[in-house]
Amino acid sequence: MDTVSLTINGKQIVTEKWKKILWAALDNGIFIPHLCAIEQRPLPFAACRLCFVEIEGRDEPVTSCTEEVSDGMVVYTRTESVLRLVRMGFEMIMSRHPVICKDCPANKNCALQEIAQQMGFKLKPKRLLQILPELPVDDSHPLFTYNPNLCVLCGQCIYVCNEVLKKEVLDFNFRGFMTRVGTFQDRPLADYGCDSCLKCVEVCPVGALSIK
Ligand code: FES
Repeated sequence: MDTVSLTINGKQIVTEKWKKILWAALDNGIFIPHLCAIEQRPLPFAACRLCFVEIEGRDEPVTSCTEEVSDGMVVYTRTESVLRLVRMGFEMIMSRHPVICKDCPANKNCALQEIAQQMGFKLKPKRLLQILPELPVDDSHPLFTYNPNLCVLCGQCIYVCNEVLKKEVLDFNFRGFMTRVGTFQDRPLADYGCDSCLKCVEVCPVGALSIK
């Protein structure tokens, strides 16, 4: 196995060549916030903009889910500019996400709660107005519920449904502010050939897809 040696926050790490910084850090107990990353995905989606780090010698922070490790690399995960970017990214996500933890099926098993706790962020954004979606919940499937109001658009369910399992039930519908996960023509899940593998529920990092 080809390996490289780098330091993250002063900790020396030996890891596989070609690995992305995010996974090298997580494998070594260094938390970097992330919602959309999937290690096996050949082209990272890089949509959540939470996984920024600074690399010595670079002018700007980079997303750690897209950047490969290299020998002698020096990485920092909590510099002032990293924290500024991550905080803003998190606040933007939370400006569209209702904070209803007690009633949420992912309570205590939620990536947003973990990020807030690890980074010392508040779940309710301080600087941004919350404009919450009020979309209909899809309760048509006998085994699981999809609540688009809790979705963070990480794309994990779409990736596993389409690219891994080749089922092509889920995709992004609409554009911009209106973007949401759904079926073709936004039909109810029960009417769209979902075979109940429940992998989408497994990978959802929040409470948008949940078992009944
Ligand atoms: S984990 Fe890197 S952008 Fe989402």
